[in-house]
Amino acid sequence: MPRDNKTPLIQKIAKQAYVTFKCLQSSANGENKLVADQHNELISLMTAVRAADLKIAPRKTKRSSGAAGLHNPPVTYMHICETEVFSMGVFLLRTGASIPLHDHPGMNGMLKVLYGKVSVRCFDKLEDTLTVSTVPPDFEPALAPSQMASQWRSVLRSVVEYSENSGPCLLTPLRDNLHQIDTVEGPAAFLDILAPPYNPDDGRDCHYYKVLQTVAEGETDEKSNEEKQGEEKEKEDVAWLLEIPQPEDFWCGGEPYPGPAVSF
Ligand SMILES: [Fe+2]
Repeated sequence: MPRDNKTPLIQKIAKQAYVTFKCLQSSANGENKLVADQHNELISLMTAVRAADLKIAPRKTKRSSGAAGLHNPPVTYMHICETEVFSMGVFLLRTGASIPLHDHPGMNGMLKVLYGKVSVRCFDKLEDTLTVSTVPPDFEPALAPSQMASQWRSVLRSVVEYSENSGPCLLTPLRDNLHQIDTVEGPAAFLDILAPPYNPDDGRDCHYYKVLQTVAEGETDEKSNEEKQGEEKEKEDVAWLLEIPQPEDFWCGGEPYPGPAVSF
């Protein structure tokens, strides 16, 4: 088949995202071969995309803290497109900026760095909302009564750094669904796909969380060194997450997307 070099890469990504996630949402378990093939094609297109494809130049930005930072948002979003199947845009992070720990309920996602470097810390909830009676006693005195309802036992899945040469960071409804994104060294930007898009009217609102505690799973077990070594790869940190309002030092501005238009 002849290579299509005329269609902008971002248009190919948008089309592939639509096909992939439409297919995923209509398949029973999301594990059939067609979905896997579509998903892999989307991953390879995302792996190839660079800032220049979106006409975005790496920026030199100062830290968002300090007097100037009072007016400049630490994070800016460029909206590219949104359908009922997925949304796509670019997040620009100033030097030192973070997107605090948040969730994507019932959603899939892909994050591809365009410039700079980010560290992505991924968590998953282990069970439904816990009541105050199950909160570790150490934390109870520190919590106001209004905060006592929404705490989750969770697991820290991974902490990984991504640059423009990395493949995309993936999330699913059940795997790596909560994440915190921190810039490493200078400013950074990433292309972001969420499927389906956030929609509070459909149970997909964004919630923010604070890590109360992390404990290595099985830390207190009395196992032999040999057994412990065998489990090393599987070891994940259990964390207690407290749902919090959007942190005051985080807000997201907006600016126009300068790249090739996407159409369906
Ligand atoms: Fe996110």
